[in-house]
Amino acid sequence: MTRGSVHGPEGPPPLSVTGMRVLVTGGAGFIGSQVVEALLARGHEPVVLDALLPSAHPTPPPAHPDVRRFVADVRDRAAVDTALDGVQAVCHQAAMVGLGKDFADAPDYVSCNDLGTAVLLAAMAGAGVRHLVLAGSMVVYGEGRYTCPVHGTVRPGPRAEAELAAGRFEPRCPRCGAQLRPGLVGEDAPTDPRNVYAATKLAQEHLAASWARACGGRAVSLRYHNVYGPGMPRDTPYAGVASFFRSALARGQSPTVYEDGGQRRDFVHVRDVAAANAVALAALPDRAPGTLTAYNTGSGVPHTVGEMARTLAAACDGPPPVVTGEYRLGDVRHITASSRRIADDLGWRALTGFADGMAEFAREGMRAARPAEPAPSACPTQPMS
Ligand SMILES: NC(=O)c1ccc[n+]([C@@H]2O[C@H](COP(=O)([O-])OP(=O)(O)OC[C@H]3O[C@@H](n4cnc5c(N)ncnc54)[C@H](O)[C@@H]3O)[C@@H](O)[C@H]2O)c1
Ligand SMILES: [Zn+2]
Repeated sequence: MTRGSVHGPEGPPPLSVTGMRVLVTGGAGFIGSQVVEALLARGHEPVVLDALLPSAHPTPPPAHPDVRRFVADVRDRAAVDTALDGVQAVCHQAAMVGLGKDFADAPDYVSCNDLGTAVLLAAMAGAGVRHLVLAGSMVVYGEGRYTCPVHGTVRPGPRAEAELAAGRFEPRCPRCGAQLRPGLVGEDAPTDPRNVYAATKLAQEHLAASWARACGGRAVSLRYHNVYGPGMPRDTPYAGVASFFRSALARGQSPTVYEDGGQRRDFVHVRDVAAANAVALAALPDRAPGTLTAYNTGSGVPHTVGEMARTLAAACDGPPPVVTGEYRLGDVRHITASSRRIADDLGWRALTGFADGMAEFAREGMRAARPAEPAPSACPTQPMS
């Protein structure tokens, strides 16, 4: 199971199937906290390092009773060195997420996500930790993959504002203007990050790949698709679309759907994503040293944003969605992945179906907003449980 040769004589003990000490950065967050649960369930010893960013946690969450937690920033080398004590592998989830408020957020994103990753990797290099699972993202692909009836696979550029304003949301073939059929993006598709957050997620992968090459490390980047489920942050500029819809329904309001609701996405349940981290961790020793492998981590079954809004509204017995035709520049029209490689290589696949997962998400609570505001713990028309 182990490749002892990549560890220095004083390096940490080799990976084992259970009982590993694993540093989970961002382990207080939506996905990180579920990664912690998945590791505990498999007999590992997760250790959390999380800065409890106010943008992510207006109300700081309590520490897990069974897990050591360092409230510190990944950019703080001394804190990371301390947290790495006895650690055999790292699940790096810490990042500023979402689109942010405006471009003025760019330095914060780059600092948190990329400088933070560089400090973490340097500390891992120093401590002889050679195993990394990175929280990647499907945003690295940009608009994804389409088929033109004449030109085959094409990659349309950003949509023009005039087209969006005229309600023409579907990207057209860049060569002939024909209607396109959206396809499933594979990991070998060229990357094309379209906003600052996306650029930082891609840079994290490049940094991790450089670390792996320089240190003989083994790394996997799990390119999560749209993750949803219990514990999702509420509707801040940093949250995902499912939480906007869920928050509206909790207020008794209709979810507001942009464009025409036909945007295709792959919604994957947070417990499935957490399990993917545990599976990837266990598989790291079998990877070639010096490499980073990227895996799309989605349900494999695309749905539209409008469909998601309708499903959530029905599960909440709430008002139906309102489709507004509004748009955000920089949003991509369709982004859906093939998650075949991770199934073939690591044997992981998502187990939670769309209808079941959304019904559960409608019932379960989201993360609190401000201390003064009660969290919408359930749809208002449903009994609290
Ligand atoms: N939620 C999604 O749909 C999605 C999709 C693709 C990728 N991801 C990635 O998954 C990871 C986790 O995202 P999430 O949705 O759980 O977000 P989240 O905001 O709930 O969790 C991120 C956590 O990281 C912490 N953090 C941020 N910057 C930090 C820093 N510099 N030092 C220490 N802690 C820091 C925050 O306090 C927070 O607890 C991120 O890397 C994100 O890019 C999420
Ligand atoms: Zn064409």
